[in-house]
Amino acid sequence: MMKYRSPAVTAQRIEPSDSPDYFPTPPWATRALLEHVLDKSAVASLTCLEPACGAGHMAKVLKEYFGEVGASDAYHYGYGEVRDFLLQPYGPSAFDWVITNPPFRLAERFIHEALRVGRRGVAILARTAFNEGVGRYERLFRDNPPAMVAPFSERVPMLKGRLDRNATTATSYAWFVWDKSHRSGQAQTKQVPPCRKELERDDDYLSDLAVSKPVGMEAEPLPDRARRKPEQLVLL
Ligand SMILES: C[S@@+](CC[C@H](N)C(=O)[O-])C[C@H]1O[C@@H](n2cnc3c(N)ncnc32)[C@H](O)[C@@H]1O
Repeated sequence: MMKYRSPAVTAQRIEPSDSPDYFPTPPWATRALLEHVLDKSAVASLTCLEPACGAGHMAKVLKEYFGEVGASDAYHYGYGEVRDFLLQPYGPSAFDWVITNPPFRLAERFIHEALRVGRRGVAILARTAFNEGVGRYERLFRDNPPAMVAPFSERVPMLKGRLDRNATTATSYAWFVWDKSHRSGQAQTKQVPPCRKELERDDDYLSDLAVSKPVGMEAEPLPDRARRKPEQLVLL
């Protein structure tokens, strides 16, 4: 007899503990951060770091808004510097903002590190349920509450290793924003309005026809990953 699987189960993203956890962000979801959550007019002269950039789906959009964008990833996808955000630290306050969609299993450590590196603030794309749980409250949210949580009103479909314009998902996502100039200690909630149609462009999906993941995406020790050359990237 077929077992019933609840939608909540199918919404889980369970990756092996050594997986790079590469789920590229549809570009419109990053534009939504600048168009509906942050003040885009205030960032044109600022710097930003995308420290888990993958093939650059988020970093390229950040370049549409910020004065300067640094990009790195522990694995080689043919975009940005190969650099482990947790093992090869940037200097304190090295960038104005740190913005990323981090590997899920390392998200808390990424946020602590991003709060050290981001002079003005940090914006993290994560599941809406990320702010649930006593353990995470004690390890992260009690002492570092975000200034704003901005849940998407639309779904943001994220797939392992590629973008797919026609994909669907049962998982809901939100932007979590730590703005260091906001000190009230109480997170504001701001719903991201429906905006996919207005912010999505046909060419957002073109690069995924060419590049999506490095050869042997399984995790390896850093020196091997760092030796990877762009020509070892594969077509999906
Ligand atoms: C969910 S994907 C997001 C990719 C990209 N930020 C985007 O939004 O399209 C997480 C990324 O984190 C990278 N990653 C995993 N562990 C890392 C680490 N310790 N330091 C830097 N990047 C890491 C993975 O290689 C992967 O590209």
